[in-house]
Amino acid sequence: MKVMVVGSGGREHALAWKIRQSPLVSEVFVLPGNPGMEAVATRLPGDPKDIASLVHAAEDRAIDLTVIGPEDPLALGVVDTFTGRGLTIFGPTAAAAALESSKVFAKDLMREHGLPTADYRVFETPEEARAFVAARPEGPVVVKADGLSAGKGVAVAPGKAEALAAIEEIMVLKTFGTSGRRVVVEEFLTGEELSVLALADGQDVLVLGAAQDHKQVYDGDRGPNTGGMGAFSPVPAYTPEVARAVEERILRPAVRAMAAAGRPFRGTLFAGLMLTADGPKVLEFNARFGDPETQVVLPRLRCDLVPLLLAAAHGSLTGLRVVVSSEAAVCVIMASSGYPGPYEKGLPIEGLVEAAAAGATVFHAGTARDAAGQLVTSGGRVLGVMAFGADVAAARARAYSAVGKISFKGTHYRRDIGNRRWA
Ligand SMILES: Nc1ncnc2c1ncn2[C@@H]1O[C@H](COP(=O)(O)OP(=O)(O)O)[C@@H](O)[C@H]1O
Ligand SMILES: [Mg+2]
Repeated sequence: MKVMVVGSGGREHALAWKIRQSPLVSEVFVLPGNPGMEAVATRLPGDPKDIASLVHAAEDRAIDLTVIGPEDPLALGVVDTFTGRGLTIFGPTAAAAALESSKVFAKDLMREHGLPTADYRVFETPEEARAFVAARPEGPVVVKADGLSAGKGVAVAPGKAEALAAIEEIMVLKTFGTSGRRVVVEEFLTGEELSVLALADGQDVLVLGAAQDHKQVYDGDRGPNTGGMGAFSPVPAYTPEVARAVEERILRPAVRAMAAAGRPFRGTLFAGLMLTADGPKVLEFNARFGDPETQVVLPRLRCDLVPLLLAAAHGSLTGLRVVVSSEAAVCVIMASSGYPGPYEKGLPIEGLVEAAAAGATVFHAGTARDAAGQLVTSGGRVLGVMAFGADVAAARARAYSAVGKISFKGTHYRRDIGNRRWA
């Protein structure tokens, strides 16, 4: 069968790489992909946000299964459109993708169905939001824009002044456009944060694994937030007891709640969790694979991913199993100097062959070829260098030895991925 992966980052490279290993698959296409994916897939032109270009590609190439990487096409209804045309696609409908694309919808659903999450209030005007924050005791609080905001619509405010500033930015300055028409103001939770990736078929869930990522740009979780500077799996805090609680109190109830709401959820159910003193609580749900969590969760699978994706798309995960390696995986992101602020592009990248020889798999995120065919940087996050090891420490050592072989001007990476001893 022919599979098409939509997107162009490290997550999509990991998906295409894993899907290519399936004996069921004769050819993988990526739209638009990146140069790193050329080793495992054929690139197709198109824009993930232009649903018509995706339909055209799928019909033109007689694609048997389409897998969507990023959230925007899901929220735009790509799954509805494909399904309406009889095309098989893995992912939630627009109505189901609201679990990610509207934090208000997700919070209200969780409250209605008793899923553990931070206490919250929803506000439709800045006046009401300000009045609520002003009347609270001083202390940390979290302000979230309702809609998709490219990971920038959440402010963890240490005090009232910062919370008021966030309300201003979201609702008055409208930095995130219509995503900021409503805000969620929620209780600040403390504990260890982790992500759980699962597949859902509308009724059932199958957990693929848990990972932790490192969002801030500098070592020791300092500096501004990024799309993610690295990730590792397994997560020591994700014990069998925690895993059971997450599945029974969060993932299954979420899928049941979505079905009851008339929005059966098929696709990747990604739970951002805080392990609080009162047990795991939901920070948010995402309706797609996480980046860079996918780059450590998929490599650890010792089973074929494609039958699972097909089963999720067709509503029949029941009875299927996931086989996960006992080995750990660590992925270190190599970023452009200046990221997440402005950065230079077009810088030549060297050393990828040596990095592979050092035992790593390099997932491309922001790379391109220049006119001469030389591989160059083209984004903030450039590469994700993933390696296995007997444990996280061994995987980390191998990943960093491969990182040391790769160079481009001004490369920046964190030295402490998979090492939370400073925490
Ligand atoms: N209630 C909360 N308490 C403490 N930290 C939070 C809370 N909600 C979110 N955060 C922090 O903010 C980050 C982003 O929030 P999240 O809800 O995941 O939004 P998004 O990923 O859409 O930006 C989380 O990864 C977490 O570190
Ligand atoms: Mg998040």
